Amino acid sequence: MSNEANIVYLNGSYLPVEEATISVMDRGFLFGDGVYEVMPVFGNKLLRVDGHLQRLQNSMNRVSLQNPYPDQQWKNMFTELLEKNPGDDRAVYLQVSRGTYPARDLKIKPYDETLYPPTIFAMILHVTPPAIEVVSSGISVITVDDFRWHACDIKSTSLLGSVMLKHQATEADVEDAILIRDGFVTEGTASNVFLVKDGVLITPPTGKQLLPGITRDLVIEIAENNAILVEQREISEAELYTADELWMTSSTREIAPVIKLNGNTVGSGAAGSMWKRVMGLYQDYKTLLRQQ
Ligand code: PDD
Repeated sequence: MSNEANIVYLNGSYLPVEEATISVMDRGFLFGDGVYEVMPVFGNKLLRVDGHLQRLQNSMNRVSLQNPYPDQQWKNMFTELLEKNPGDDRAVYLQVSRGTYPARDLKIKPYDETLYPPTIFAMILHVTPPAIEVVSSGISVITVDDFRWHACDIKSTSLLGSVMLKHQATEADVEDAILIRDGFVTEGTASNVFLVKDGVLITPPTGKQLLPGITRDLVIEIAENNAILVEQREISEAELYTADELWMTSSTREIAPVIKLNGNTVGSGAAGSMWKRVMGLYQDYKTLLRQQ
């Protein structure tokens, strides 16, 4: 980040990040009572913005938070924010918290835009996807027990569980963790998981145990459009050890091949042929988006 422009959006104003402040009584701060999105941008074009806005709406519905803006207003704000923070590949981060109540109280008050307006914040993340050669060298991960709650389909700013799980990976000196609940894979700490076996691409089905990733959707769509068989079904922990390939997908990570799992080599120990094919198609998709 450092010397790049850092103008953020807060409740209708664009201002330098140092000047953007909120109350200590904000429910986002006190309770993590808010939802968020991270949307990748390639050459000023937002990738799957409608999918992200739909997921934002779903998260808000799940936590009984009213969406403060219609989609077009969100999009206009993203455009303005991107203009104020020039660059090429970036991401838009947005979060909406339930705002500030006079007293610390778990109880939700009826929505009142004047009395208790939500806190609406957005910033640009200067995350450039790493070069393909770097990505293809793969990542090492461990498996950890997924002790998070039963509402992981909500993109909630309450991320303490994810912070703790990621810390387990850091302590084990690996990049990330694959989360296991009751013997089955759910997702990564901030990504979805794909497994390749005998030419079939397999990923756990959506539900309350994982976030329905926009990258996940796109990978499935790209694969199906190119006659690659996709199965959305439970993946047992044991299957991870006999996988031909393992990937982790997210907006900021794209499609990362896993080459080591709990110290064991995955597949051939290098990014696999299916990864090369789907990653190539994904990059083509980005190129088309840039040209639009
Ligand atoms: N995280 N699962 C979890 C728990 C996530 O936090 C994310 C994304 C994903 C992948 O979703 P998508 O493909 O839409 O990025 C799955 C973002 C990048 C983050 O929190 O920074």
